[in-house]
Amino acid sequence: MNKRIFTAIKPTGDLHLGNYLGALNNWVKMQDEYECIFNLADLHAITVWQDPKTLADNTRELAAGLIASGLDVDKHILYNQSQVKEHAELAWVLNCVARVGWMNRMTQFKDKAGKNREKVSLGLYAYPSLMAADILLYKATHVPVGEDQKQHVELTRDIAIKFNNDFEKDVLVVPEPVVQAEGARIMSLKDGTKKMSKSDGSSMGCIFLSDDDDMIAKKIRKAKTDPDGLPSELSGFNGRAEAYNLVTIYAKLQDKNLVDIMPDIAGKQFSDLKKMLTDVAVARISPIREDMKKLMSDKSGIDRILKNGADKGRVIASKVLSEVYDAVGFLK
Ligand code: TYM
Repeated sequence: MNKRIFTAIKPTGDLHLGNYLGALNNWVKMQDEYECIFNLADLHAITVWQDPKTLADNTRELAAGLIASGLDVDKHILYNQSQVKEHAELAWVLNCVARVGWMNRMTQFKDKAGKNREKVSLGLYAYPSLMAADILLYKATHVPVGEDQKQHVELTRDIAIKFNNDFEKDVLVVPEPVVQAEGARIMSLKDGTKKMSKSDGSSMGCIFLSDDDDMIAKKIRKAKTDPDGLPSELSGFNGRAEAYNLVTIYAKLQDKNLVDIMPDIAGKQFSDLKKMLTDVAVARISPIREDMKKLMSDKSGIDRILKNGADKGRVIASKVLSEVYDAVGFLK
């Protein structure tokens, strides 16, 4: 079987450096080796309230961000999830395969719901089952994600195995998560123990791909550090989450591993690192930001790309859904 990637990102209007280094930049690199399906997960986005006035533009802007980062939409498939209704249809079948006990173990739900458990949407709870449907709908063999999504891909494997066992047919492909060794968990610039995200409590902790150069420099300048100089060995990062995070970002922005950039930073002060980091961050982000702006000036062009992607996606998705319906015993 061909190596096929499925992966997705929510259009919540906050494409940030964590998404870029933890996910997107890898997707770009995997395009030569795999057949790829890239999805803008708008069905997932509405598990928490999205203003209908901004959702469409957030979706377009995310498409622009992905294209500006290097996704090849002629060779691969890019579309927004709600245009392929098979996602929701397969999710229902999988809701009947997945067990409540499995969902209760999902740490992201626990984190997101917090004390508000009774008041969050049912969709937020069922979300991992929709995510399983996304992946299984395309018989994806590999799913590149950041660390925070790995548990959901493991759940997807369990659901696929149970489906195949229950219906005594190998309909669904059991996918492998692909999580890079470094950079799979980019942390907030303000707190090295919290994942970088729009909702980490401080927008200064999160660099958005739409930030201008001055804002990028300001956020890096104000990033949390510790009183020591930078180490010369990787072991010198033990117990120093903020230092580790800044150096990881510095390395990944240059597509390098930590060990390769240690000689550049060994013994330096944070003030030096911050200057070096600002230079590489601006050099990497500003062309993407400018390309995003250009792409966003032709919204109907983006809409055409997404519709075209959805048309291509539907061809695969409808066939797999039909196999699932046959296995379940639905009349057609
Ligand atoms: P989402 O939209 O939260 O994030 C998109 C991708 O970015 C990664 N990511 C990070 N990586 C490193 N450091 C961070 N601080 C960071 N923040 C986000 C995420 O791990 C993810 O890979 N449920 C998914 C979307 C989804 C999906 C799917 C993914 C829906 N269906 C099927 C894969 C396959 C989500 O909410 O990602």
